Amino acid sequence: MDRKEFIKVCGGTCLALVGIALLNQSCTGTHYALSSISGDKLSVIKSEFKIIKKNKPDYRKYIVVKSDKLDFPIIVYRKDENSYLAMLMKCTHQGIELNVNGDILSCSAHGSEFSNKGEVIQGPADQKLKVFPVSSDEKNIYIQLV
Ligand code: FES
Repeated sequence: MDRKEFIKVCGGTCLALVGIALLNQSCTGTHYALSSISGDKLSVIKSEFKIIKKNKPDYRKYIVVKSDKLDFPIIVYRKDENSYLAMLMKCTHQGIELNVNGDILSCSAHGSEFSNKGEVIQGPADQKLKVFPVSSDEKNIYIQLV
């Protein structure tokens, strides 16, 4: 194989790998849910968690809620139909917005990591994330913003 042929083969392979990675990322990407705020309650429709996976109904593990009225997004993990955990995506070290990757929330500033329960996995942060009280009814989830 000469140099040109080698570059062609490797270039094609690299492009294919990048394409697969982007496709995979878009399938598992973060879902930003619609919400509404009334007083100090933020409500999200439960159906924001619903997805179709392999032609079957399924649920997202989490959604992220952003609003003009919030300084930071809120991540909501779904445990089951009536159990949710809502946390502020604000690093407790120096207040930078966190990134989410599955069950881990990470801070790009100094590397702190938090679990899907808000506990510190890795510092320098030493306090857990702010957790909001959550209630729900048949259709909606209500996050108490206090
Ligand atoms: S601000 Fe997040 S680790 Fe420092």
